[in-house]
Amino acid sequence: MTTVEFRTPEALAEAERWTAHNYHPLPVVVAEAEGAWVTDVDGVRYLDFLAGYSALNFGHRHPGLIAAAHAQLDRVTLTSRAFVHDQFGAFCRGLAALCGKDMVLPMNTGAEAVETAIKVARKWGYRVKGVAAEQAEIIVAADNFHGRTTTIVSFSTDPDARADFGPYTPGFVVVPYGDLAAVRDAITPNTVAVLMEPIQGEAGVLVPPAGFLAGLRELCTETDVLMIADEIQSGLGRTGKTFAIEHDGVVPDMYVLGKALGGGIVPVSAVAADRAVLGVLRPGEHGSTFGGNPLACAVGTEVVKLLETGEFQERSARLGARLHAGLEALIGQGVVAVRGRGLWAGVDIDPALMTGRQACERLAERRVLAKDTHGSTIRLAPPLVVTEEDLDHALAQLAAVLRG
Ligand SMILES: Cc1ncc(COP(=O)(O)O)c(C=O)c1O
Repeated sequence: MTTVEFRTPEALAEAERWTAHNYHPLPVVVAEAEGAWVTDVDGVRYLDFLAGYSALNFGHRHPGLIAAAHAQLDRVTLTSRAFVHDQFGAFCRGLAALCGKDMVLPMNTGAEAVETAIKVARKWGYRVKGVAAEQAEIIVAADNFHGRTTTIVSFSTDPDARADFGPYTPGFVVVPYGDLAAVRDAITPNTVAVLMEPIQGEAGVLVPPAGFLAGLRELCTETDVLMIADEIQSGLGRTGKTFAIEHDGVVPDMYVLGKALGGGIVPVSAVAADRAVLGVLRPGEHGSTFGGNPLACAVGTEVVKLLETGEFQERSARLGARLHAGLEALIGQGVVAVRGRGLWAGVDIDPALMTGRQACERLAERRVLAKDTHGSTIRLAPPLVVTEEDLDHALAQLAAVLRG
């Protein structure tokens, strides 16, 4: 008799023993991945409906992105910004053009790009708007998620993200998300920027009320305040357009990008803005050793090229309609509400049935990977290369989980 040895328990135990417990992962140990599918250490295949929180918009190991990375690995991978390398200008030009902005500033993680946006807005406030030293204020939304640095958690309203990490960075004013009157009331002569997610991802894929973003754009222009859109999770094709804010016909003063910009291969983030804003920075005032490195730029250039085709935005819009129709059909059958745009959905499960975490655990047992947010909400965000068959399969698994 042969005994089959499963590697998952040991791999889970090892990870549990040797890491800080700052995450609560599902008990799946991934060994390989391609497209919308991952395979665990025991050879079990799962459909990935999280896509690295939108970092894998183009799927796992997209062939064009992998080829660009391989080619660059054989040339040069790091110079630091002390020198210019031959991938830098092309990446920045391409990304600026995609954003319709004059220039970009590349960093690595999303949080670093948000920090960059905050620093640029403050500096712009002092040097261009004429705010008195140390007085700059930035308006943000309740239930925001912009990253994990000490400054960013200072204006988080999530106790898990914020508590015990003070003292906090001052200069932020929190208003309810989607409430234009509250933003108007919060603006003072010292306000330099409004920083918001066009759709709040971590909060449960919350789409603001119709007209909010357009109204915010007008208000920011009227009051000489920078409108900063954190498109780290919502951007780069996820919602059926290059930027989620496009659905509202709005162009912000600054885009903050990350996640999918690195093609799921390297951390690449950036801010994009016009010269009047980003031009305030001088040598020595901001930077990052790895920001804009050759490998990141080579992959980022290919990401920009993929987005220029419009193919992924189109897929997200088309398949997103199918996903949302399928989810709407589950309302009353274990689903209470569905929100989102394109291939991005926040699904509120009836709390009487199960928590979001339990729903994700049961989905994982059925070989579909998704992640809960708060309470009984789960978030679905498959890679944009997912097929219609895959979508229908995931919907069927969710329906089965809800039936119990
Ligand atoms: C909207 C938004 N901003 C910022 C971040 C932070 O990005 P990172 O985890 O790369 O620092 C995230 C990550 O989930 C995000 O969703």
